[in-house]
Amino acid sequence: MALVNPLAMIEAARRKGAAVAAFNVHNLETVQAVVEAAAAERAPVMLQTTPGTLKHAGIPYIAAIAKVAAELHRIPVALHVDHCGSFGTIVQCIQYGYTSVMIDGSHYPYPENVALVQRVVEIAKAAGVAVEAELGRIGGTEDQVTVAEREATFTVPEEARDFAAATGINTLAIAIGTAHGEYHGEPRIDFERLTAIRSLVDIPLVLHGASGVPDESVRQAIRRGIAKVNIATELKIPMAQAIQASFAQNPRENDPRNYLGAAKEAVKRVVREKIRLCGASGLADELR
Ligand code: 13P
Ligand code: ZN
Repeated sequence: MALVNPLAMIEAARRKGAAVAAFNVHNLETVQAVVEAAAAERAPVMLQTTPGTLKHAGIPYIAAIAKVAAELHRIPVALHVDHCGSFGTIVQCIQYGYTSVMIDGSHYPYPENVALVQRVVEIAKAAGVAVEAELGRIGGTEDQVTVAEREATFTVPEEARDFAAATGINTLAIAIGTAHGEYHGEPRIDFERLTAIRSLVDIPLVLHGASGVPDESVRQAIRRGIAKVNIATELKIPMAQAIQASFAQNPRENDPRNYLGAAKEAVKRVVREKIRLCGASGLADELR
């Protein structure tokens, strides 16, 4: 299939009490791993790239790889730019076929965040592209951007309701205690806040920083209204470990097909687990 706008898959997941799993990808092998694992689970899936990945791989390359990956499998696949602060980069991504964008103005004061998001919504809607935005500030480190614990702020439910109405976004990323990267200790998630946001906000809610969150907490977040779950670090770790193990086993290894092949298999295993955790297995067949 061609790349799709993710809203139909997110709504379908929501109706079923499930969530769409969205995975951060960096190169050919990670795109293949995610799409092949999702196809094996018959799950719709989102591929996401941060601005750091766009810089590393180049928008045309990563968009072309994702497009081919989607065409080779009979499951809905969306391509999303994650945590993008730049209007210009978002326009470029849309030009290259991205079907979903996250404009992240969460570091701005509320009025500036709203103004930036409104501009993106206007052009994205015209192009049939979905828009996610963030309110509150998710802690942790992603793409070398660190939000210290004291800078992280939780989403205020009433503000979330006003923000969704003022901007016209399709999905909302909320800050409820998860963080990007590895956790030091168990994450403390404010489930009551999630329920309060859910009761005031109609659009699907997105959980960021899902790596390292215990399975039962992810399930509970989905039960309370999360419809998209973002996973990055939990794919990076097994990938690095598989590559390290290849070299530990054979320090003279020099064939990228061997060490990257092992890495791809390790990533695939985690993708399948996460899709099952989100309850998204089999959902592709309901979307046709
Ligand atoms: P993790 O790296 O903590 O899984 O965060 C993923 C994420 O939120 C991507 O936007
Ligand atoms: Zn995130």
